[in-house]
Formats: sequence, structure tokens, C-alpha cells
Amino acid sequence: MKAWTRGILCLLVALCAGAAGIAQPGAAPESAGHTPWWKNAVIYEIYPRSFQDSNRNGIGDLNGITSRLDYLQNLGVNAIWLTPIYPSPQVDFGYDISDYTAIDPQYGTMADFDRLTAEARKRNIGVIMDLVLNHTSDKHPWFIESASSRTNPKADWYVWHDPKIVNGKREPPNNWQSVFGHSAWQWDPARKQYYYHRFYIQQPDLNWNNPQVRKAMYDMVRFWIRHGVAGFRLDAITSLFEDPSFSNEAYVLGPDGKPVINAYGDKEVMTNKTDNLPEVHDVLRELRRVADEAGNRNVVLIGETYLESIADLRKMYGPRNDELQLPMDMQVGFINKLDVPLFRRRINEAETEIGDNQPLFVFDNHDNPRWDRYQLSASGTPVFGYGPHHAGIGRVLATILFASRDTAMFYYGDEIGMVTTPPTRKEDVKDPIGITGWPKEKGRDGERTPMQWNDGPDAGFSAGHVKTWLPIPPSYTTYNVAAEQDQPNSMLHWYEQLMALRKQDPALHSGDEIMLNTSDNKVLSWLRKAPDGEAVVVACNFTDQPRTVNLDVSAQGVQGTHASTLMITPGTPEPASLSKVQLGPYGVYVGKVQ
Ligand code: NOJ
Repeated sequence: MKAWTRGILCLLVALCAGAAGIAQPGAAPESAGHTPWWKNAVIYEIYPRSFQDSNRNGIGDLNGITSRLDYLQNLGVNAIWLTPIYPSPQVDFGYDISDYTAIDPQYGTMADFDRLTAEARKRNIGVIMDLVLNHTSDKHPWFIESASSRTNPKADWYVWHDPKIVNGKREPPNNWQSVFGHSAWQWDPARKQYYYHRFYIQQPDLNWNNPQVRKAMYDMVRFWIRHGVAGFRLDAITSLFEDPSFSNEAYVLGPDGKPVINAYGDKEVMTNKTDNLPEVHDVLRELRRVADEAGNRNVVLIGETYLESIADLRKMYGPRNDELQLPMDMQVGFINKLDVPLFRRRINEAETEIGDNQPLFVFDNHDNPRWDRYQLSASGTPVFGYGPHHAGIGRVLATILFASRDTAMFYYGDEIGMVTTPPTRKEDVKDPIGITGWPKEKGRDGERTPMQWNDGPDAGFSAGHVKTWLPIPPSYTTYNVAAEQDQPNSMLHWYEQLMALRKQDPALHSGDEIMLNTSDNKVLSWLRKAPDGEAVVVACNFTDQPRTVNLDVSAQGVQGTHASTLMITPGTPEPASLSKVQLGPYGVYVGKVQ
């Protein structure tokens, strides 16, 4: 097609999209050719309560996020994922939604949201909404109506079940457990039935077999697309359906053959009947069709997909690549120990076992301890905080994230090396599971503490001189954005440089990823190779001892035995040749082959 014909066609497509009332992309523009914006993009997860408070009440909000967009643009992110900002009783800090098409007043207004997406768009940053489809709040009008009788119009919108009667006494229908502890069934005295809740009691599961539920949710997705969002992160997406037999799950057995007792004191049960049922895929295909209504805006669907095998992850893309564009690959980032062979195998699987699809790697989120969890004690338990190798390990993990062929997602504060800061007293815990599970399960407050912007009052997060919703970790005086901007060797600059390189360098941007030195179990090394032959080599030392590694890639059809250094751990000598690259403890080397 001639260039001018293509131009007219693009204009027509854009005009039609406008005519249909679909706002212009809230995402980065298309790259050359037909590559959607999210491919190889960098996505930054924001926990809105904790990012930036603009109205001085100690809780972050939308205007706060808008005020930090320049920072995000300079950092190099292409999209931000906001955890839920809809009206909510906040039992699960927004994951219990009582209205899907409004903004919780504590975060702002719809006008604030529209301003955020518009300002983000000016900076080529897309806004990704959290889509909580599995459950609503028990205060959502749908549930209130559904619970009011067995005959109301929404009677079948949730998962209701009669009790089991044992020795004349009422019991839950089966032994299914909530992810957050104890039975997944809650008795409702009005209906005289139990309802199923995979998460908190206040989060009843919707009945996805009901076409009205599906329609209501798809219309809601269209609502946000009209508000200019670039995509959705699908919460708990594998748990939409339950096995219609409603039969008991088997108990999880420990190595001694006895049932495992979890942090809540329950015998742990399997989740075969409540997780990853095949019907999920029908919904994903339907959702994809809804997202695709936005045409060349390339609205992206990202899945919260904790799946154990690459085969299961592959299925999430759909047999015809017609389901999720980006199911999260948790198999790499959540290995949780610096195990070279395991990282090599999993990264290689993501490269070779998912067809033409794009992997999405992520190491951190608001549900798990931050990346400092990779510092392990001799017995293998995580040691949170600033250990002697905190920075080294952080550089290794960031290099795997940004120098792999993937779409990269990271969590606010990772870039400055914020550490997990769990509460030390039960009375300070905000996350309800930390109260139910104390002291074994301290909840998720530790990874949700306010962003550390500077060493001023409340770390620059809030100017309210009020108690912030979670305490500011004491480390903020040293680890904060302002301080790290001034230090050439800071974690912040390491992140920025890696992100800039993966944008500029064709091999790092989208070149193939080929593992090197595949029997080395101390150093993970790989080659990125662009179609035109440009090549970059990467090596990460997973140990606290110096190592030397051979990164000569002539056997891989790459010409050149030397490299120009792109990134190197501070204090490491520049290698004279690729056959002998020295790495200090947890040292990293990234070089362009020449
Ligand atoms: C996963 C979310 O990431 C988590 O924060 C939430 O508690 C559950 N889903 C329930 O929505």
C-alpha cells in the first residue's frame, strides 16, 4: 500500500473511532508497523492510597498521581496500572467494589480521573484500570437485592447454596476455603442460604453463569473504554467459576502425609474446584471482543494469573490469541530465590513455549513482600530490609526484568529500592488478613507503605501533618526519589538507564533471547539478538563471590569478540574481551557486541 493511501486509511479509522464516541488512545502511540503499544512496554503499578496525597488527609489520591506524571514520564514508563479506585467500603482496600462506574470520593471525582487520563496521554502514558469481576462488595446494590429474597430479579447473580444438614445441624455446603482464611461460605439469614466468597466475607462471588452478570460487566468495561483507559488488569480472573458438583476438595498433605495447617489455623484444601475452570476461557474471549471494539487503540487485557505451568499460562492467550494479550507470568518473578537453573528454565520457557505471544514479567505487587524478599537467611527464609547485598540483588532482578524480551511491569517504590516494612504490633495492622492470621500472617501492609519522595515531612507523600494511613518506613531519609536522583549509582538511575536502553537498542527492545553458558549455576547469562544481527550480552552473578564468565557469542552466529559496555555494576573493571568478563558479588554486565 502506498504511503499516502495508508495515511488516508489511518485518518478514516481515527475519525470512525471518534464518531463511535471512543476517546483517543490513553496509551503510547503505535510503533512502526502494526506493533501494539503494550508490546515491550513498561507498566508501573500504583497503589493509589500510597502514591501521593494531594488533599492532606494522609491517603493518596488521583490528583496526587496526576502531579507525579512528569516523574513517571522521565522514569520511562508507558502505562500505569491503578489498583481499584471505585467506591468501596475499603474492607479489601478497593477490591470490594460497591459501584463500578464511579470514583471513590476519597480518591477524587470522575473529573479528576478524566484529567489524569488526559494529562497521562499528553505524556504518552496509558492508564490501566483494575477490573474486579469475580466478586463485588456485599454493599453493592446488586448483592443487597440478591440477598433480599430467593425470588428477586437478581436472586441468581451470586453463588448461593443450601446448607448441608448434619445431625440436624446446619453446615456449609462443602469444605471450600476462602483465600483469606476459614470457610468460603457465609450464612445469610434472610435467604436462609449460604453465599460463596473466595476472598473476604464482604466480597461475595458473582455467578458468571448468569448472562445478565456478564452483560452488566461488559457494559461497565465499555464505560471505562469511553473514559479513555488503555487497558484493564483482570483481578482474580482464574476464579470466576466453581465446579457445579459443589463437592469437597481434597486436603493438602505435607511431607509427613498429614494435612497442612495454614496461617489461619485451618487444614489447607486444594483449589481444583474453584480455580482455573475451563469456562474462564469463554469469558476471556468475550471480554477480548469487548476490548477489541476500541479497534486500533489496542486496549490491553492483563491477567492476574498465578499459574504453575507454562502450558497453563499459554492457554490464557487463547487458542487463536483471542483471550488475554498479557497474562502475568508469575513463574519467573516469584521464584523467590536466586536459583540460576530455575530462572534460566523459566525465562527460556517464556521465550519458546508461548507461541507468538508476548510474556509479561513482574517481580512485585501489592500482595507480596517487595523484592528485598530475595535476600535469604541460611535457612532460606526472607530477610526483609537493607542487607549487605540489597543493592546488588536489586540490580540483578531489575536487569532480568528490563533486559529480557518481555513487557515489563514493576511496582511503585521498586525503583528506589523500597523494602518490605511489615507492622510490628497487631494493633497497627490495617489489612484484615494480618489481623486474622497474626503473627504468622502479618498481612500486606508491609508492601503498601507510602512512596518515599524526599527526606522532608512524611517523605513528601503528604503535606497534611496528619497520621498517614500507613506509617512511613524509617528508611525514607536515605531511600527517596530526591536523594537518588542526585546519586549517579543509585537504584533509581539503574532502573532509568535500563528502561532507556530497552527503548533505544533494537536487540534489547525486541530481539530474541538466547540463554548462554547453560550449565553455569552461579551466573545467569543471555544474548539478545535483533533480526539485523545487532546483539547485546547480559550476565548477572547470583552469588556473593566474584565470578568470571565467558560471553563470547561467536557460536551463536554473532560477529565480534568485544563489547561496548552499556551497564556495569559500579566498581567492576571493564572487560578487555568477551571471553573473560569479571563480575563482583551480585555483579551485572550488559554489553553491545562489536
Ligand atoms: C487480588 C488482588 O491483587 C488482592 O489485593 C485482592 O485482595 C484479591 N485479588 C481479591 O480481590
